[in-house]
Amino acid sequence: MCGIVGYVGRPKSLEVLLGGLRRLEYRGYDSAGVAIITEEGDLVTRKRAGKLAVLVDDLAAEALTDGSTGIGHTRWATHGGPTDGNAHPHLSRDGKLALIHNGIIENFAELKAELLADGYTFESETDTEVAAKLLGREYEAGGGLAAALGRVVVRLEGAFTLLALHRDEPLVVVGARRNSPLVIGLGEGENFLGSDVAAFVEHTQRAVAIGQDQIVTITPDTVTVTDFFGTEVQPTEFQVSWDASAAEKGGWSSFMAKEISEQPEAVANTLRTRIHDDHVVLPDLAGLEESLVGIDRIVIIACGTASYAGMLGKYALEKWARIPVEVQLSHEFRYSEPVLSPTTLVVSISQSGETMDTLMAVKYAIEAGAKTLSICNTQGATIARESDAVIYTHAGPEVAVASTKAFVAQIAALYLFGLHLAEVRGTLSPEATKEALDELSSIPEKLEQVLLTKERIQELAKWMSDSRAVLFLGRHVGYPVALEGALKLKELAYIHAEGFAAGELKHGPIALIEPGQPVFVVVPSPRDPNSLHAKVVSNIQEIRARGARILAIAEQGDASVLPFADEVIPIPLAGALFEPLLAVVPLQIFAMELATAKGLDVDQPRNLAKSVTVE
Ligand code: F6R
Repeated sequence: MCGIVGYVGRPKSLEVLLGGLRRLEYRGYDSAGVAIITEEGDLVTRKRAGKLAVLVDDLAAEALTDGSTGIGHTRWATHGGPTDGNAHPHLSRDGKLALIHNGIIENFAELKAELLADGYTFESETDTEVAAKLLGREYEAGGGLAAALGRVVVRLEGAFTLLALHRDEPLVVVGARRNSPLVIGLGEGENFLGSDVAAFVEHTQRAVAIGQDQIVTITPDTVTVTDFFGTEVQPTEFQVSWDASAAEKGGWSSFMAKEISEQPEAVANTLRTRIHDDHVVLPDLAGLEESLVGIDRIVIIACGTASYAGMLGKYALEKWARIPVEVQLSHEFRYSEPVLSPTTLVVSISQSGETMDTLMAVKYAIEAGAKTLSICNTQGATIARESDAVIYTHAGPEVAVASTKAFVAQIAALYLFGLHLAEVRGTLSPEATKEALDELSSIPEKLEQVLLTKERIQELAKWMSDSRAVLFLGRHVGYPVALEGALKLKELAYIHAEGFAAGELKHGPIALIEPGQPVFVVVPSPRDPNSLHAKVVSNIQEIRARGARILAIAEQGDASVLPFADEVIPIPLAGALFEPLLAVVPLQIFAMELATAKGLDVDQPRNLAKSVTVE
C-alpha cells in the first residue's frame, strides 16, 4: 500500500523517483505523483489517477522541470477515491511545501476542523492534505522543516509515514514514521528514502531502517535521525542482501511465474547455514534463547497466506516440541482479550514485516508481557525490529501481490524453529530429528520436480477458465493447503473458491456439490500412519457420487485415487508434514494460469496491495 520515494543529490530526481515508484508498484496503488524542487528553486508537482504509466505519459507529453530534490508517491486510496485531486503530493497553503503520506491519520477530521476555522480551504478529500496544511502552518512559525514536522507529528493519531520538502530548504527532504515503514538509502553525494529498499536498491545497497516515532532529514551529504522531539539517535546501517536484478522479471511473463519457479531456491536459502551435523543452528534466536526452555504455550499470529503457514507450523510444533500451539488471525487476536503471560511465546509471521494488523498484534503481545518471535522476509522491517528475535526467511524480494515463495519459506522457517524447540525441550529423539531434517533438506529438489507439472496444469486451467466456483478439500496438513489453493484462486482469477477440511464436508458443504462442480482434493500419502488416506478417498467417492469433477493432488504412484479422479497431479514422496510444501505448488500454478487465461494481471490483482499497512 502506498509507495514512498525521496531523493536528494544530483539534478536527476525525476529519474530516481519514477524508477523507485516503478519498483514499489508491487505494493498496490491507484494513483501516482511527484514533487520536485528545480535548480531554479521552484516547487513543481504532477500527479495522476491510474497506473504509473499514466503519469509517465503525462510527463512525456508535458515535461516537468527536473531538480536535485524530490519526493514521489503511489497512493492506495483510503480517504477519497483514486482521482487526480486526491493523489499525492499535497501542498501547503502558500504552495511552497509538498507532502506525501502512507497510512491513516485517525484524528484528521478534528485537525481539519481546526484548520477550516483558521480560514484554510481544501482541494481534496484526503487526510494527507490536512497534514500538508498543518505542516505549512508550523513551518511559518519558524525553526526549519524538521522541527516543524516534529511539532506536527506529535499531534497526529494513527499510522503514518510522511515525507516533505520545502522550496526554502532546497536540498533537504524530511521524513517521519509511526507504525508505517520508512528506510534510508545511503549514497555518495546523494541519499534516498523509501517505503522499502526496493525504492533505491538500483542505486545503493547500503540501508538504514528508521525506528518507531523517528524523524529523518537527508541532504546530499548528511543523514540525521532524531526522535519526534529533536533528540538525535544513532540508527544502525545494514547491507541489502539482494541486488536490483533480483527484483526484475528477468524474462518471465510475470513476477508471479518467476517467484513460483524460485521456490526451490527460496527454501534452500532459508535452510542454508541453519543445519549442521543433524542439528538446527539458529543464532537468530539469541534474544530469546534463555526464555525458550520456560515457554509453555505458543500463539501464532498472521494474516492470509501467512496464517496458513502458521496452521502448518502448529501441526509441526505440537508434534515435535509437544507444546500447545494456537493460530490466530492478527486482526482478531487482540480483540479476543487473549490470555498471555511471560511464558507465552507469540510467533508472528509476515512476509513484508509491515502488515499493520500483525504489527498491532505484536505490540499487544509485548505490552501483555509475552515473548515475541517473528518470521519475516524483509530485512529491517518494523515487525522484525519490534520482536525479541526474528528468523528471516531468505526467499528474496517477493514482488507479485499474491504470496508464493514466501509461503514455502515461512513453512521451512517454522519447521526449523519447531525442530530446534524440540531439541531444547528434549521431546524428539536424535534419529527423528535427523529424519525430519533430511526430509526438509530434500524439499528444494522435490520442488523442482513439482514445477515440471506446469504445462499439464496450464492445459487444465485453460480448459477450466469459465468455471464459476471451485472447491478445495484437505485433511490435517492438507487443510491449510486447501485454504491456500482457494485464496490464490479468489485473489488472482476472481472466482468464488472455498477451502474445506474434508471431514467437515458432511456437516454442510456437501450441499454445494452438483454435477460438474470442480473440486481439488489434496490426498495424503497412502503411507500415512493415521489412515487419513483412506478417509480422504472415501470423501472423494462421496462427492463423486454427486457428480463432482475430482482434481486430485496425490503422491506419485498412488493408484488408489485413479479410478475416482478426473485428473491426478502427482507430487513426489515426502513425510506427512512435508507434503504441503509440495502440494501447494500445483494450486499456485493453477490459479496463475487460470487468471492468465482470463486475461487478468496476475502480479497486481484488483483491489489488493502487497503490503497492507492500514488496519
Ligand atoms: C495472499 C497474500 C496475503 C498475505 C497477507 C499477509 O496471497 O499474499 O494473504 O499473506 O496479507 O501479508 P504479510 O505476510 O506481508 O504479513
